[in-house]
Amino acid sequence: MANAATRNVFVMGFTGKTGKAVVDTLAKDTDFGRIKLLGRRQVETSVKEDSRFEQYVVNYDKIEDHTDAFSGCEAGICCMGGSGGRSMPDDQYIKINLDYVINSAKVAKAAGCRHFLMVSATDSDKKSRVTYRRTKGIMEEQLQELGFERLTIVKPGYISGPRETTRFLDVATGVVFFPLIKLFPTKYSVPAASIALAMINCIKMAEHPSVKILENKDIHTVAKETKEP
Ligand SMILES: NC(=O)c1ccc[n+]([C@@H]2O[C@H](COP(=O)([O-])OP(=O)(O)OC[C@H]3O[C@@H](n4cnc5c(N)ncnc54)[C@H](OP(=O)(O)O)[C@@H]3O)[C@@H](O)[C@H]2O)c1
Repeated sequence: MANAATRNVFVMGFTGKTGKAVVDTLAKDTDFGRIKLLGRRQVETSVKEDSRFEQYVVNYDKIEDHTDAFSGCEAGICCMGGSGGRSMPDDQYIKINLDYVINSAKVAKAAGCRHFLMVSATDSDKKSRVTYRRTKGIMEEQLQELGFERLTIVKPGYISGPRETTRFLDVATGVVFFPLIKLFPTKYSVPAASIALAMINCIKMAEHPSVKILENKDIHTVAKETKEP
């Protein structure tokens, strides 16, 4: 893996709850050089004054045309998908959460990405009859089959933290989870900021198995291993 200060990374899904936390965490981390932000539209970001960040508008239906958005990055973080997917038609949900992820991962690997990091979900299960759980499970399996030098899959429960736009499902889930978060702070939920720290810590680890899976509790633990710069 690259030395500190020469680490380049791409981030997919950087406009979402977790993706934004990843951007904010990378902004404070001087170990990273170039940070490529991939999205389907150009957006205003909090990091527009930081020349390390560069936005790439990509068409995920033709992601193979966007090799330049991935090139030169030893690692890539994917926060694409979204809890909103549960209220989408199944075919659309599968397209975003499986096809877009796997197709992008293939292009990234061909462009030289050695470490792919993916935000999945605690209840993923490739045999489930529930589309969202099954899709996440199949996505994890297909990512493992791609044979990255390093693959990190984080499996959060409810992701807490600020969201730019209010979503009924997200607010309702937050209300339901509030007592559980208070009673069992590391069991059923994790702040987006902790997911970001845990993934960035995994990129920096000297020792990392070829496949590392972090369950909700593990995300809290690895996030706490952060060393102050
Ligand atoms: N939220 C939770 O409590 C929770 C719990 C467990 C697992 N997860 C999983 O964790 C991951 C991150 O969750 P999150 O809540 O941070 O997600 P989020 O806020 O909904 O963000 C989703 C990201 O995916 C992008 N995206 C969605 N549809 C797209 C499309 N058709 N084409 C291109 N980009 C698209 C969004 O871009 P735009 O801004 O352009 O829409 C956004 O950047 C997701 O995979 C989610 O399934 C979430």
